Amino acid sequence: MRIVLVGPPGAGKGTQAAYLAKNLSIPHISTGDLFRANISRQTELGKLAKSYMDAGNLVPDEVTIGMARDRMEQPDAVNGFLLDGFPRNVSQAEALDQALKADAVELDAVLDLEVPEDEVVKRIAGRRICRRDSSHVFHVVYSPAKKEGVCDACGGELYQRDDDSEETVRRRLEVYHTQTEPIIDYYRAQGLVVTISALGKVEEVTRRAMDALKRED
Ligand code: AP5
Ligand code: ZN
Repeated sequence: MRIVLVGPPGAGKGTQAAYLAKNLSIPHISTGDLFRANISRQTELGKLAKSYMDAGNLVPDEVTIGMARDRMEQPDAVNGFLLDGFPRNVSQAEALDQALKADAVELDAVLDLEVPEDEVVKRIAGRRICRRDSSHVFHVVYSPAKKEGVCDACGGELYQRDDDSEETVRRRLEVYHTQTEPIIDYYRAQGLVVTISALGKVEEVTRRAMDALKRED
């Protein structure tokens, strides 16, 4: 299956993507995680991306589209993938359509996670992620690590993302409404959008998502 996950910052995209990708046996491709991996390796791409991410703005399309395409061309993504955080504006969605068309394949669904803004703010404020692997995500109240500050999965140190400050989160939400939400209409016109509520326990949301994707199958 080829799926795009969309939703505001803090909706739980990364959390759900980890379970969905495992259940569906497809790789989880997160452009945010790819950028963060570049930042921790201190690559040129990482340095460039960090300046945009810390301000809550989108990293320029020229850089992002190439990086996403390279990842989608890896052997593990030949038969499907779950995209998390890409595309994030209409020109990225158009670039993705072109890439899929060139490979004569299509998206199966765009899963839209709906969460009220006050919940998103609570989720982001308590989020802690692992320094060794940013796909290991915790929350101080909703999914605390067994030992405070230490990742259950790999023992890495847990920290708060630089872009999770109140001011940057406000900007990220604004960018989501103005630049990312329009892709929902773009994909609705293609009949691909399935919207589910992302409220409730993580497992409940995963079940809702799997049911919605089965109906699209
Ligand atoms: P990115 O990393 O994609 O961040 P985001 O979209 O803002 O989303 P988040 O990672 O903040 O949230 P999430 O929805 O994954 O939530 P999570 O599962 O962690 O992008 C960061 C930046 O990179 C962008 O601002 C931009 O600069 C750049 N970038 C990335 N892609 C780009 C692109 N395509 N183009 C240009 N720039 C790009 O959950 C949040 C918290 O809630 C966690 O603590 C979790 O434990 C908790 N939680 C999750 N589910 C539940 C639940 N059901 N109940 C209670 N708590 C829950
Ligand atoms: Zn870890």
